Amino acid sequence: MTQQKTWRIGVAGLGTVGAGLLTFLAEHPDFAPAGGKAVVTGVSARSRSRPRPFDISGLPWFDDPVALANSPQTDVFVELIGGSDGPAKAAVEAALSAGKPVVTANKALIAEHGAELAALAEAKGAPLLFEAAVMGGVPAVKMIREALVGDEIASVAGILNGTCNYILTEMEATGRSFAEVLAEAQRLGYAEADPTMDVGGFDAAHKISILAALAFGCAPNYAAAEIEGIAGVELLDIHLARDLGYRIKLVASADRSPDGVLVRVHPSLAPLSHPLAQAGGALNALFIEGRRIGRIFVQGPGAGAGPTAAAVAADIADVMTGAVRPVFQAPATSLAPFTPVDPSKSIGRAYLRLSVKDEPGVIAAVSETLAEAGVSIESFLQKPVENASGVPIVLTTHAVAESVLTAAIDRIAALPAVLDRPRLLRIAKI
Ligand SMILES: NC(=O)c1ccc[n+]([C@@H]2O[C@H](COP(=O)([O-])OP(=O)(O)OC[C@H]3O[C@@H](n4cnc5c(N)ncnc54)[C@H](OP(=O)(O)O)[C@@H]3O)[C@@H](O)[C@H]2O)c1
Repeated sequence: MTQQKTWRIGVAGLGTVGAGLLTFLAEHPDFAPAGGKAVVTGVSARSRSRPRPFDISGLPWFDDPVALANSPQTDVFVELIGGSDGPAKAAVEAALSAGKPVVTANKALIAEHGAELAALAEAKGAPLLFEAAVMGGVPAVKMIREALVGDEIASVAGILNGTCNYILTEMEATGRSFAEVLAEAQRLGYAEADPTMDVGGFDAAHKISILAALAFGCAPNYAAAEIEGIAGVELLDIHLARDLGYRIKLVASADRSPDGVLVRVHPSLAPLSHPLAQAGGALNALFIEGRRIGRIFVQGPGAGAGPTAAAVAADIADVMTGAVRPVFQAPATSLAPFTPVDPSKSIGRAYLRLSVKDEPGVIAAVSETLAEAGVSIESFLQKPVENASGVPIVLTTHAVAESVLTAAIDRIAALPAVLDRPRLLRIAKI
């Protein structure tokens, strides 16, 4: 009888995801979907004495994650520290340099350094897997990299940040402002003490940059992503959008065209009946458009200890099969960053909210200005006077190039009856 191989796992990072993984492995000592045996043989975190939801007293402790990666007792290195640089990157590089398989949940690291890490991994013949980095428990990475490799993907778009989705959902449901809901989310532990990565759209941009690389066979190009978060989303826009039949979501998208690839993250309007509009709370949701397969929609938990640890465990199982495939869709030696498309050339429908003086002729002036600028209005909504400082009017446009729209907004903003620069939100192209 052949002896089953024991894979010695070193886990760096014992926070939400690390705790989820160690709890799972402790509860499933026979976890071996690919045969063999996975045994944790070393752990690393910042504080050895911090209380943990599981017992680490019997596990070798490493103050330095690089030492854990280099340890002769580590066959597979699992990086659950986070951050694009610093100890996470150093430890992953150390493990790969030693030819050891690496499993990580770190989207910042993969989005910002994926190409160089892929080159190192492939040169050393070591797998580098990151299923948990995008959409937590939803297997978006494997689906795009492996199951859809027989198709040509034209676009991927969806809700990739659960914190933003939770905040927008709560704002609409409770009528509270962004600041109020964010403060509550921080109290409840749904949002980080420093929420910038999430609410600024950067986390979603990391994830969509990774999906774009997998979908289009290029290197991640996070620097080319156009990013707008949700801090500027006002309750008034949520209500007006709803009156027009839309819900505001933070949509991350990557579109391929003959000119290149456009990667964007924006608060966007989705029709109320659309699955993206219906993905509430902390859910993540993703549309993939393939030329032959057509449309695929997946939805599920994008974060949390259980779902994310399940994705990490699935990657460990993959390592245990012994399979090694390119880190992205193509060998690292042939990966190049995609050519970014100038967003001003992008064509789409838009929502504009204006605050205007309560006087006759304003709507006519706005309509004429838009028509002269080449923007065609699809629908118009005027609300009763809300306060002394202005009357909100809101309109949606037919599809228009962003450069034309921006020029039109400049002209509207200059009208004497218009009190502020109009608020622009895109209508999602899904
Ligand atoms: N949370 C989620 O639901 C989720 C979902 C998908 C992906 N991810 C990704 O998973 C990774 C981990 O996220 P998390 O939420 O689990 O983070 P977390 O709760 O903040 O945990 C981070 C862990 O890293 C440890 N750490 C920090 N600096 C270290 C250093 N210099 N050396 C060794 N250990 C160090 C911390 O140690 P101490 O415990 O001692 O402070 C902590 O255990 C990140 O890349 C994140 O983006 C998270």
